[in-house]
Amino acid sequence: MKDKLIIFDTTLRDGEQSPGASMTRDEKVRIGKALERMKVDVIEAGFPAASQGDFEAVQAVANAIKESTVCGLARALDKDIDRAGEALKGANSSRIHTFIATSPIHMKMKLRMEPEQVIEYAVRAVKRARQYTDNVEFSPEDAGRSEEDFLCQILEAVIDAGATTLNIPDTVGYSVPGQFGETIANLINRIPNSDKAIFSVHCHNDLGLAVANSLSAVLNGARQVECTINGLGERAGNASLEEVVMAVRTRQDVFSCQTGLDTREILTCSKLVSSITGFPVQPNKAIVGANAFAHESGIHQDGVLKNPETYEIMKAEDVGWSANRMVLGKHSGRNAFKSRMTELGHEFSSEEELNETFYCFKQLADKKHEIFDEDLQALISETSSFSEEEHIKLIALKVCSETGEMPRSTVTIRISDQELTGSAEGSGAVDASLKAIESLVESKATLELYSVNSLTNGTDAQGEVTVRLEKVGRIVNGQGADTDIVIASAKAYINALSKLQSPDQRKHPQQGDV
Ligand code: KIV
Ligand code: ZN
Repeated sequence: MKDKLIIFDTTLRDGEQSPGASMTRDEKVRIGKALERMKVDVIEAGFPAASQGDFEAVQAVANAIKESTVCGLARALDKDIDRAGEALKGANSSRIHTFIATSPIHMKMKLRMEPEQVIEYAVRAVKRARQYTDNVEFSPEDAGRSEEDFLCQILEAVIDAGATTLNIPDTVGYSVPGQFGETIANLINRIPNSDKAIFSVHCHNDLGLAVANSLSAVLNGARQVECTINGLGERAGNASLEEVVMAVRTRQDVFSCQTGLDTREILTCSKLVSSITGFPVQPNKAIVGANAFAHESGIHQDGVLKNPETYEIMKAEDVGWSANRMVLGKHSGRNAFKSRMTELGHEFSSEEELNETFYCFKQLADKKHEIFDEDLQALISETSSFSEEEHIKLIALKVCSETGEMPRSTVTIRISDQELTGSAEGSGAVDASLKAIESLVESKATLELYSVNSLTNGTDAQGEVTVRLEKVGRIVNGQGADTDIVIASAKAYINALSKLQSPDQRKHPQQGDV
C-alpha cells in the first residue's frame, strides 16, 4: 500500500499574486469547483486579511466546495488568523495556513525580530488557529535560505502547539534538488516529534527548478506538495501541479506514494485558469501545451503509429486531451445543455439565468454548428461577468474595412441605461473598435496586453480575446469570445473597463510586516 501524496493547490492564492492575474470572487469559485472535480485535496482560496474582496472570495469558495479542504492564508498575527477563521466558517473541511519568515535576512531586515520572538509569534499563531480548526499548517517563510538548526527548533515548537502540516517553502526559488531533498530528510530525522505532522513543500521557480525541487522533497519524505495550475504564481511562478502529478503517476517505479487526482480533468483546469487570468500556456509546456503530445518528425510519427509507447510515456487522454470533445449542437435541447453545464461545474442560480444562457447558446449554435466544452466555458465566463460587474454592455458594432482605406468602426454601448454611439478610425478593425469605445468611456487606461486565442479548431471557431488594462497601479483583465474576433475584442475591452470602474476590493497583501 503506497502513501498518499496530498496535492495542495494554491492557484487562487499564490497564483493570484502574479501581476495581472487577479480573479473575481465568482472566477475563484469556478476554478475552485474545477479543482474539486479533479479531486485536489486542499484548495488555498486566498488571504482573507488582505482585503474585503479577498475575504469574500475565500468565504464564497469555502461555501461552494464540498469535497476538498478549503484553506486560508494568514500571517502570524491574531487579526489575520481571526479573519481566516471567520472566512472559512462555512467550509465542510477547513485549514488555516499561517506563516512567518525564518531566514536570517528576513528576520533581521524585514521583521526586525530576534529568532526567539519569531518562535513566540509562530507558536501563538498556531495555537490561535487551532481555536478555529484542528487542521493547521505552518510555514517558515524563506526556509530555503534558513538555518537548519533554527528550522528544527521552530518546527518542533509549532508541532507541540498543534500544527498538523509543516510546509517548507523555497520562497525565492534558491534551492537545488539534491540539497533541498536532503534538507527535508534532515528535518524529518532531526525533529523529535516530526511523526506528528505531515511535511509539505512549496517551491518557487526562479531557477526553473520548482518541480524538480518538489519531487526531490517527495523522494525524501514530503507527503504534501503545494503547486499551481500552469505553474502560475509570484515572479517565475510555483511548481506546476500538472507536472508534479504526472511525474509521480508516470514514475511509480520511483515514487513510493500516489495522488488521488482525476488527471483527466487537468486540461480543463489548465484552459480555465488560462482563460480567466489571460496568461496563455506556451505550446511546448509539458502536459498542457498544445504541442505536448504532437509528434512532428517522421521517425517519431512512424514509431508512434506502430506502437504509441515508442515515443509516448503518457497517454494524452489521461490528462484530458480527448479526441472527441464535441458535446452539443444547434438541435440540442435545454436539458442536454443544462446537464453538460452542470458536468462542467456550472450551477444555474435561477431559471432566468438558465434561460438567458441557453438563449446565448442557441445564438452561438446558429453561427457555429459544433459546440465544444471550451465554447461552453466561454459562455459561462461571459454570462457570469454580466451578473457580477458588467455595467457597460455592447449593443452594436459596425466596422468598415477595405484594402487601401483606413478601417472605421461605429460602436453603440449601454452604460447604466444610457445608450451612446461613437465612431473612430484605426490601423485595423480591432484598433478602430477599441478607439471608438474609448471615445465614449474615456477611461484613459493603458492597454498592457491584447491577445487572441482560438478556442477550438476551424475557421468558424470562437476567438477568445484577453485585454489587460492598467490605471493608477490597478491592473485588470477582460475576456470576450465570439466567432467574430472584432466583436470578441470589443467585448473583452468592455469587460476590462467594467472591472476597472468597479470598486477595487482586492489589494494585494503586503506580507512584509510580519
Ligand atoms: O513562497 C512562500 O513562502 C509563500 C508562503 C506564504 C508559504 O507563499
Ligand atoms: Zn509562495
